[in-house]
Amino acid sequence: MRVSLSRRRIMQGSAGALALGAMAQPTAAATALAPIRLYLNENPYGPSDRAKQAMQGALGDGWMYDHEGASQLRRLIAAREGLKPENVFICEGSTEILKIAGMIFGGDGRDVVAGMPTFTALPQYASRRGGQIRWVDLNDEMQLDLPAMDSKVTDRTGVVYICNPNNPTGRVVDPDHLRAFIEAVSQRSLVLVDEAYIDVVDDPERMAMTDQVKLGRNVLIARTFSKIHGLAGLRIGYGLARPDIIRRLEELRVSIPNRMGLKAAIASYQDTEFLTYSRKMVRGAVAYTCAFFDKMKLRYAPSQANFVMFDTGRSGAEFGTYLREKNILVNPTFEPYDSWCRVSMGRMEDMETFTAATREFYKRT
Ligand SMILES: Cc1ncc(COP(=O)(O)O)c(C=O)c1O
Repeated sequence: MRVSLSRRRIMQGSAGALALGAMAQPTAAATALAPIRLYLNENPYGPSDRAKQAMQGALGDGWMYDHEGASQLRRLIAAREGLKPENVFICEGSTEILKIAGMIFGGDGRDVVAGMPTFTALPQYASRRGGQIRWVDLNDEMQLDLPAMDSKVTDRTGVVYICNPNNPTGRVVDPDHLRAFIEAVSQRSLVLVDEAYIDVVDDPERMAMTDQVKLGRNVLIARTFSKIHGLAGLRIGYGLARPDIIRRLEELRVSIPNRMGLKAAIASYQDTEFLTYSRKMVRGAVAYTCAFFDKMKLRYAPSQANFVMFDTGRSGAEFGTYLREKNILVNPTFEPYDSWCRVSMGRMEDMETFTAATREFYKRT
């Protein structure tokens, strides 16, 4: 049931750390069979054939560092985005960008402004480095509340974290509102826009904030090869920003990207056929899953990402445990939405197994 979420405030919650430790893990009995992984927003169609070929061709090269591969990927990304290589930071997954940015801009007694709930890598890391997190509840549509976030920015704020689409809700903010927000807020703080799921949204060109980098604003975009490219295990991500911001990230990078990951990313980046296919499959799975929720009269947040958050109407943790016993992993750990659960889009047969198990859950309880 695709309800208007504005009809009522779903749940007021106190801002606090998310219960990430409670993330679903398979029970001992279930590990005999590989579990159905619908809890980490991966893309089961990856790596693409071209990425696999590129990795196979490089098997014997593992003894070499790959500075040239990183430069090649940097040039490819810069060319496609209409930026310069100095605007691009290549790293070991976008988590590295989020953590470095959290440390540089959000640590040492400064403030980080972030939605609640959201992807916690940046705020959590900043908090561990002595930063204060100003959590801002989502609005009634389960979107990041840009005016409320703006109002939390002070002269102590080092970074404002905008995850768009937001994880775990899959909701996007209006791109024109976001552009106006960046224009105003970036004069007071760095705005980090996490575009991990940008390739899945309805209109990626309009939603992507690369024009804000071109305008020279105080903005950093984080992207990843872990999602639409299906390369999560190969750990490649990239950032887009002004050269002075990129230099600060470079100073504190923890490692250099791995050679195999770079080979796969370079091949995948140019494999438009695979990307189109992945997008089609993900969006098909979202449509199927939402139609199922409609049929079951379960509320869900209309998602533009490769996962859907829905209201189980019970304890989300109880639902998660039930599915885990059926060898299906989902993620119900997003405070304050205790009755909600996030399900990632897997292959269609996995989504069918998920919907059958969910139907069973409501029959039994
Ligand atoms: C919004 C968001 N940003 C970043 C990441 C991390 O991606 P990576 O594998 O590139 O570190 C994730 C992973 O789930 C995510 O959901």
